[in-house]
Amino acid sequence: MAVTDRERWDARHAVAGAGQPAPPDALRGREDLLPAGGRALDVACGRGSVAVWLAARGFVVDAVDVSPVALAAGAALAAAQDVEVAWHVADLDAGLPAACTGPYDLVVCQRFRDPRLYPAFARLLAEGGLLVLTVLSEVDDEPGPFRAGPGELAAAFPGLDVLTHEERDGAATLLARRREVTPGAVPGSPPAPPAPS
Ligand SMILES: C[S@@+](CC[C@H](N)C(=O)[O-])C[C@H]1O[C@@H](n2cnc3c(N)ncnc32)[C@H](O)[C@@H]1O
Repeated sequence: MAVTDRERWDARHAVAGAGQPAPPDALRGREDLLPAGGRALDVACGRGSVAVWLAARGFVVDAVDVSPVALAAGAALAAAQDVEVAWHVADLDAGLPAACTGPYDLVVCQRFRDPRLYPAFARLLAEGGLLVLTVLSEVDDEPGPFRAGPGELAAAFPGLDVLTHEERDGAATLLARRREVTPGAVPGSPPAPPAPS
């Protein structure tokens, strides 16, 4: 990312009001899908509303953004809520930071789109882990370089079970889970037939 772009994000975050802890948009009303706990990764976390919300629910959270101003706001919110988050200043154009090794029980990325990161999202998910994505979409809106084309999210994660995929009004969301491997099962093989009674 160009320095001017990062400065533009810093400037936007600097004038934004204080955030509040909040669930990922795509999980509102679907909180039952949230893993019971474990490790979570919030990609392009902005001012940390989601990261802090997750930390308050007991997740051990890594949160990544290019903007130090955004992460400082996130750290202030975390301190106010008396929770801890590991904040990582990183330019995602170079991929996820090396410190974010996973596996994660939850990976969230909302209002930020970089298809080059999709394989890493899938790879970093723990067995049974949940992926929560929201991106701008061309569906019901104009084409643009920051928007997903129709079907992009549904096609991007062939190894995951898609729980919901919605595209409308210029936004696309995906909730998908990495299947848990049954001990002894060969990955990719069909389920075993029921035992004879
Ligand atoms: C629209 S905001 C979304 C923030 C947050 N996910 C939310 O839902 O409120 C996009 C975020 O992506 C960050 N961002 C943009 N380009 C980035 C890059 N190359 N690397 C890391 N973060 C980036 C910005 O600083 C900003 O916080």
